[in-house]
Amino acid sequence: MTERAASETGDALLLTPGPLTTSKSVKAAMVHDWGSRDQAFIDINRRVLESIAQIAGASKTHVTVPVQGSGTFAVEAMIGSFVPRDGKLLILVNGAYGERAMKICEVIGRACITLESPEDTPPAPEDVSAILTADPSITHVFAVHCETTSGILNPIKEIADAVAAAGRRLLVDSMSAFGALPIDAADVPYDALAASSNKCLEGVPGLGFVICRKTALVETDGNPHALVLDLKAQHDALEKSGQYRFTPPIHVIVALEQAITEHEDEGGVAGRGGRYTNNCKVLVEGMRAMGFETLLPDELQAPIIITFHMPEDPAFEFKRFYDSLAERGYLIYPGKLTVADSFRIGCIGRLDENHMQGALQAIAEVLNEMGVTQTGPRKAAA
Ligand SMILES: Cc1ncc(COP(=O)(O)O)c(C=O)c1O
Repeated sequence: MTERAASETGDALLLTPGPLTTSKSVKAAMVHDWGSRDQAFIDINRRVLESIAQIAGASKTHVTVPVQGSGTFAVEAMIGSFVPRDGKLLILVNGAYGERAMKICEVIGRACITLESPEDTPPAPEDVSAILTADPSITHVFAVHCETTSGILNPIKEIADAVAAAGRRLLVDSMSAFGALPIDAADVPYDALAASSNKCLEGVPGLGFVICRKTALVETDGNPHALVLDLKAQHDALEKSGQYRFTPPIHVIVALEQAITEHEDEGGVAGRGGRYTNNCKVLVEGMRAMGFETLLPDELQAPIIITFHMPEDPAFEFKRFYDSLAERGYLIYPGKLTVADSFRIGCIGRLDENHMQGALQAIAEVLNEMGVTQTGPRKAAA
């Protein structure tokens, strides 16, 4: 067996779509204490929020509003704050995160309708236009940038243009794409975009954030369904005193500042996206060379997480495959699809081409150990 792979801190490599492998320096930033109302922390927090708006190309038009919690807290805060109580949301669904937005609307009492497409098919912008023309009561549209369920890249610019042309407002879930795939606010009109600390910015989990158009945020009074998820109140408090209304995840925010410095040093979105694109290419080519098939054609694949069809060989057992890779220091992800039996391998986080090559070698070894020779797609059960 090849030597167990490890991160800079000796941990297993997370080939998952976040939480992901972070650098040693990001983790090291957390070994201190800060007072949440002390100026040192207030300054760090302000720099973090400003840097996020800069990464989005949104400094002039938008502000970053942090939300304590995971990414879903930010998505729920975005929907609850921006969609008025008598508004209506069109949700573009081609995976679990579009479905989650439906669930949020159901729980918080917002009217919604969906445009659904299969998990391997992006929503068609012309269908969005047609629905918006036919239903004038729709006030907002919700789109997922990279639908992490499959790894598909949705056509966010074309969707944004269709929404703007119809005079409606766009809310974007860019959770697994922000920081690695371009979405420039000057070019892609949106009222709000949600993401989090622990995806392509390569921070640790614990902070969601919503990049909010200033002119839209001021109109949200009376909309929110929850005190803690009120983006305008959160923003107003931070503007007034620099302080959070409720205890912030201080260590997460300090680590995020270090992660953002490393993001800048890597060349920002282009640099980070370039490394992930190369990781994705190495992984896909290597897996195809072993006979595996990807769910998506290359032109729909985002360089974030790749879905592979489960091999047809009866000797292939996912649990054993997972455990044997974990023993070798590589943690992968089960599939989340309804259309096909699959598993997923992420290519984001503090990983490079060498890690991908190592993972491929480990996969080859494990297949050999299991006696798997037929790696083509398993036929769907009749
Ligand atoms: C596109 C997308 N939206 C939302 C989420 C939810 O984020 P969290 O699990 O941090 O709540 C995820 C998580 O992977 C995601 O990929």
